[in-house]
Amino acid sequence: MKKSHQKLNAGKNKILSKMHILITAGGTREYIDPVRFITNASSGKMGYALAGAAQKAGHKVTLISASDLQPPVGIEFVGVDSAAEMFEAVQKHFPRCDCLIMAAAVSDYAPVKQAKTKMKKTDKSLTIKLKPTADILKWAGKHKEKNQIVAGFALEDRAIRTRAEKKLKEKNLDMIIANTPAAIGVDKSTVHIKTTSSSWTKIENADKTMIAGKIIRRLEKFSESAKDNKAQVAHH
Ligand code: CTP
Repeated sequence: MKKSHQKLNAGKNKILSKMHILITAGGTREYIDPVRFITNASSGKMGYALAGAAQKAGHKVTLISASDLQPPVGIEFVGVDSAAEMFEAVQKHFPRCDCLIMAAAVSDYAPVKQAKTKMKKTDKSLTIKLKPTADILKWAGKHKEKNQIVAGFALEDRAIRTRAEKKLKEKNLDMIIANTPAAIGVDKSTVHIKTTSSSWTKIENADKTMIAGKIIRRLEKFSESAKDNKAQVAHH
């Protein structure tokens, strides 16, 4: 057999190494009092689809979720409410994972004060003071080890790729998945994907389960080529 054929077969039959993938999903809830909260229209569908696709591909999955959707069977599940709780859970689980995908719609602000009992109405206008929450994705990009992959989403109304690429660089990510508010809460979506080692690709009007499978595949490829690059550097 020619050498080139041997190489080709080796490539085709190559067994991809399995990862421990940490995924966040859903819109966080920032409580004003015990019964009222600030949230967003995220359903958690994309994050759950990613968890399902990663599990199907044989990876170990930990799902940190602020969504009311039923936890998938057979994966490690951590339920949270607020951005602060999600941050705490990510800080706890991230060091043990090979890859983080931040699919959650994390609230950018939370009330400065949370009333202990249900707030009573008055006839005056009400002002609720909000403070910024921690950017969990930025924290992960800053603290990742050389062998860890961090992927984030970018929700943009316009200049989608330009703005998403800015987030890729500023948050020190390996992959960014850009979409528009039209994707929120529905089954289908159009996404644009870019990694630090490849240019933009587009998946148009596809089911979130299909998109999730493609994202996991891209992350597997990214992880393998990062390993190959490291091996080549060590060889020289
Ligand atoms: N994200 C996060 N922590 C936050 C806010 C967002 O980890 N406090 C993550 C989201 O999970 C997503 C990415 O950051 O993966 C981008 O979220 P997005 O809402 O598009 O952007 P922001 O960074 O919040 O910036 P802006 O709202 O100004 O577009």
